[in-house]
Amino acid sequence: MTTLAGPAPLIFGLYGEPPAELADRPEGAVQFSPLVPGSAVLEDQPAGSLGSMVMLGSPGTVERRYAMAQALRALAAAAPLTVLAPKDKGGSRLRKELEAFGCDVAEDARRHHRICTTVRRASLAGVDEAIAAGAQQLVEPLGFWSQPGVFAWDRIDPGSALLLEHLPPLAGRGADLGCGIGILSRAVLAAPAVTELTLVDLDRRAVDAARRNIADPRARFVWADLRREVAGLGGLDFVVTNPPFHDGGAEDRALGQVFVRRSASLLRRGGRLLLVANRHLPYEAVLKASFRSVALRVEAGGYKVYEAEA
Ligand SMILES: C[S@@+](CC[C@H](N)C(=O)[O-])C[C@H]1O[C@@H](n2cnc3c(N)ncnc32)[C@H](O)[C@@H]1O
Repeated sequence: MTTLAGPAPLIFGLYGEPPAELADRPEGAVQFSPLVPGSAVLEDQPAGSLGSMVMLGSPGTVERRYAMAQALRALAAAAPLTVLAPKDKGGSRLRKELEAFGCDVAEDARRHHRICTTVRRASLAGVDEAIAAGAQQLVEPLGFWSQPGVFAWDRIDPGSALLLEHLPPLAGRGADLGCGIGILSRAVLAAPAVTELTLVDLDRRAVDAARRNIADPRARFVWADLRREVAGLGGLDFVVTNPPFHDGGAEDRALGQVFVRRSASLLRRGGRLLLVANRHLPYEAVLKASFRSVALRVEAGGYKVYEAEA
């Protein structure tokens, strides 16, 4: 007997965490944000397979247009797309950006957000170009693969540069917490005495780029949120980190402090943490509370490198 398989059911997509009061989330929606570990990958979604998409637009223009173009590519004919963003974080440009893709857009303004709705038209413009501009690419001057939207995607952060300059010889099993595209990890793995390095980041795009940048059998790559425990990681000899700081807002400071505590919990007794941070950020107290000894190795250009022993 032959069983006739029907067409695959359409998926309702969600990208990021749009405020619930501003956009309805369909029940059973599939999360596609690269900043939510474990979520589905929009790039892998076949054309025409999405029944709808509700998207919180990212603040970066190239990154936002890339995600909208990927959504339009994956949506079925006439399927609805809702994109919203705070007015001052890309929201005021959404309408024009969607119109440039050939969409008819209805726009609403609520709670400092712009909310744009459209449906997937049969013919679109500029989708392939937006996808090419926002895709993973080789940043020639850096010699690293990267992607718009990833932290400092096409340059070396001055804090990371300072840590690179003062990186002591490391040995044994370690981790790069908040590894980004692998700038610190590549330097760490230059030491033959390093036997294993786990690179962890919240951003899948960063982890994917790092995987491509670090072709080393000693490296393993984990897409995870360091606010939670990372399964199977512990007893380390060293940790290197340039913790997330963004605008230096209260939430980001707390996140940096979580990175310090997470480092302490991942190290064996006597293991070393090397951390770089903007000198204004309040990490000293949490370092002292979490480690047996803490030393300021260098301060330059507005950054501090600390070395702490667990
Ligand atoms: C200051 S950047 C450093 C990136 C890289 N190590 C470098 O030196 O270029 C901090 C990194 O932490 C990541 N990050 C932010 N929040 C995180 C979290 N909760 N868990 C894991 N990684 C996180 C960001 O995606 C970013 O790549």
